[in-house]
Amino acid sequence: MLSIRTYQTEVLIIGSGGAGLRCALELHDKKRDVLVVGKCEKRDAHTILATGGINAALGTMDPQDSWQLHAADTIRDGGLINNPKAVMTLCKAAPRAILELVTWGANFHREKNGNITQRFFGAATYRRACFIGDHTGREILNVLVDQVEQRKIPFLSQVYIFSLLHSSQGVYGAVGWDIRKGTFVVIQAKAVVLATGGHSRMFSRSSSRFWENTGDGIGLAYRCGAQFMDMEMFQFHPTGMVYPENAAGVLVTEAVRGEGGILLNTHGERFMRRYDPARMELSARDVVARAIYTEVQAGRGTQHGGVWLDITHKPKDYILQRLPKVYAQFQHFLGIDISKKPMEVGPTAHYSMGGLWTNYTTGQTSVKHLYAIGEVTSGMHGANRLGGNSLAEIMVFGRLTGEALARKVKRQRWRSLNKKTVDTLISTFSQQFKNKRGNDPLKVKQDLMQMMWEHVGVVRNGKQIAAGLQLLEQFKKTSLFVHGPLPMNAKLLAALDLQHMLPTCEMILKSALYRTESRGAHYRSDHPTILSSWRKNVYCTPTRQGLRLFTKPVAKIPNTIQRLILEKQPTTHLLE
Ligand code: FUM
Repeated sequence: MLSIRTYQTEVLIIGSGGAGLRCALELHDKKRDVLVVGKCEKRDAHTILATGGINAALGTMDPQDSWQLHAADTIRDGGLINNPKAVMTLCKAAPRAILELVTWGANFHREKNGNITQRFFGAATYRRACFIGDHTGREILNVLVDQVEQRKIPFLSQVYIFSLLHSSQGVYGAVGWDIRKGTFVVIQAKAVVLATGGHSRMFSRSSSRFWENTGDGIGLAYRCGAQFMDMEMFQFHPTGMVYPENAAGVLVTEAVRGEGGILLNTHGERFMRRYDPARMELSARDVVARAIYTEVQAGRGTQHGGVWLDITHKPKDYILQRLPKVYAQFQHFLGIDISKKPMEVGPTAHYSMGGLWTNYTTGQTSVKHLYAIGEVTSGMHGANRLGGNSLAEIMVFGRLTGEALARKVKRQRWRSLNKKTVDTLISTFSQQFKNKRGNDPLKVKQDLMQMMWEHVGVVRNGKQIAAGLQLLEQFKKTSLFVHGPLPMNAKLLAALDLQHMLPTCEMILKSALYRTESRGAHYRSDHPTILSSWRKNVYCTPTRQGLRLFTKPVAKIPNTIQRLILEKQPTTHLLE
């Protein structure tokens, strides 16, 4: 006998990271019913892995900074295909987000005069990243969870949503599996918000943990026929650990370079001089990641296929104060004191710029009553995200979507739960246990990630991508053998992840093949130049005949921002 718990809430938020929680707070404060469901433990969402900082043009260190310059930096290094309206909304509202966090107890690093300290991050004209050591995301998540708990907002943790409830009139809830108990949950809602994070776990070397960033929101929305944008735009962070094997991919925050860390190849050469002599190590992430990739390919890499990141010229006390997490991580995995020895680093899959299309003002997707915020969406970051902008995004758009939804759902009627649909979804779920043979889903997941890393990685080309698509067809046909009890079943988890990952990988590969130029993080060795004719977004819609890909031009950038984008920005400060 299956155990099923049923819930009713005006708004269901799927995802318990910063975006979901900020949205929940707004809805609650506007007197709406909201339920948050996350697949991880309460204070352990992926937001905790965002380390180095949150951007806001406060101008505490560099008074010349402004929200307009923040917007110009974001669009310039986003390859000019960002949604300009979204960018301007973010940059204007980011200082308010910092104030909210401070009010709720976030303990940002401060100068002696009491001002919030701001550090450099890549491609930022001025010091703009506010931080709490190098564990900014963890602190922000804790502050948000505290607020959620104070308000007693209902929260289900370790529940894996495997399907949305969807009819021709749109989305009206979701069905999930309680990972710990092995029971089912059915949630009826007037509106559903996807705050499920990104899809960096499509790749074998990633800054995410094995079970997270598996494209859950993408897979759920795909099956409702939603529209996606810029799926080829995937960010490889320049500096992840390269060894030992169990640590490969773990992020080495950009804050190391923001605090003065330099990159060296095996010849001891500060190679960024050849790739971006003005901005050096603080160039945009796509530029630095490709530079490291090129150095390694040219045989100037380290023993483990990386380069050196050196901050030994800074005093140990300073490192311990500003970069305690990186310090501890190299101690833990390698017994290395980074104040004495350089770190070996290389690119790691980090952030999905592409994702669900939304209108950004309310978070509405192309599917009725389905909303999205944070990394699962597209458009904000264009072809390359600036470090520090994602934490700002989750705070700003979490609030704005909450505000808009509070007004909407108040006027909205309930749609009744269709019992037959729920039964079908749960029995389809149970089918996974009927296969008596097949492949281990954990192994299939690992192989799929490896295929993506090899076929659509830092540098890609048409032949490789096409071969990747052929391999993907094999993955789609692979039957999976899921066995064991329902509670705490890792194979079942991997099998569910694969349901989201397969369409996500297909959209990444097809969009990467479609865009025949190089822009931002999408670098094609067979089409190495940026083409003005490609200054557009690539859209992807699932249809009965398969994926339909097409382009639309990007909205006009307002003149004030356009002027700043073209102006040469001061960079001498980056070379100190
Ligand atoms: O390097 C970092 O600390 C990453 C920050 C970010 O992606 O925003």
